[in-house]
Amino acid sequence: MSKKKIVVLTGAGMSAESGLKTFRDANGLWEGHDVMQVASPQGFAQNPELVLEFYNQRRRQLLEVSPNAGHLALVDLESHFDVSIVTQNVDNLHEQAGSSHVVHLHGELFKVRSTMDENYVLEWKEDLVLGHVDKNGHQLRPHIVWFGEMVPMMDVAAEITQQADVLMIIGTSMQVYPAAGLIHYAPTEAPIYFVDPRPNIRSSDFRNLTVIPKTAVEGVPTLVDRLFGTAL
Ligand code: APR
Repeated sequence: MSKKKIVVLTGAGMSAESGLKTFRDANGLWEGHDVMQVASPQGFAQNPELVLEFYNQRRRQLLEVSPNAGHLALVDLESHFDVSIVTQNVDNLHEQAGSSHVVHLHGELFKVRSTMDENYVLEWKEDLVLGHVDKNGHQLRPHIVWFGEMVPMMDVAAEITQQADVLMIIGTSMQVYPAAGLIHYAPTEAPIYFVDPRPNIRSSDFRNLTVIPKTAVEGVPTLVDRLFGTAL
């Protein structure tokens, strides 16, 4: 018998207890910034230094933090299940924790790419500034999906979610599409577990939805233990 497939959709709340700010909570990341100024192609064209410095700050912070018990519980899940993480997060905390299959919908903070060739991608952990160029002399940019840009991994993510026996959604306000639309790709008979201390979704919104109003660190390890009870 093959292992049951668990798909986990995560958002900024997954990394909150590791010390990384979410976007839309009180004093969240977007609170101090105009999204279009620091996370859009127009913003990058208008003031590239501002955008590069915004991501330099986030990259420097990521070098200082570690996965939390929620990330680690999702790794434990792999002993009994076939687990795919589909994350909106650009941090690499799922990878640091040891998750073996992670799909990043909104890009990766520790990667940069050519402004002229989106397939020219480099691992990058230090500050990125104007003058850092690709082999043809074109400026490098954060390998992040900015507002208004395509989400190239969405088809892959939808395909994965359609195979789910169980869907877990952790730490996302479900306000940004197409990522938030993934919930609709889960098979109707697949149970959905929604972990968020301030959930803005109700159990009555979906047939098989269980809302767990807890943080990732409080809620995910317990949920994982519960799922071990259902493993084949
Ligand atoms: N544990 C679990 N969830 C938490 C925690 C925690 N400790 N703290 C906060 N949350 C929840 C909040 O209640 C909220 O529902 O995490 C969610 C964070 O929502 P957002 O800040 O909107 O983050 P996210 O949903 O990931 O944003 C999606 O928007 O700005 C874009 O590209 C960016 O990927 C991001 C996307």
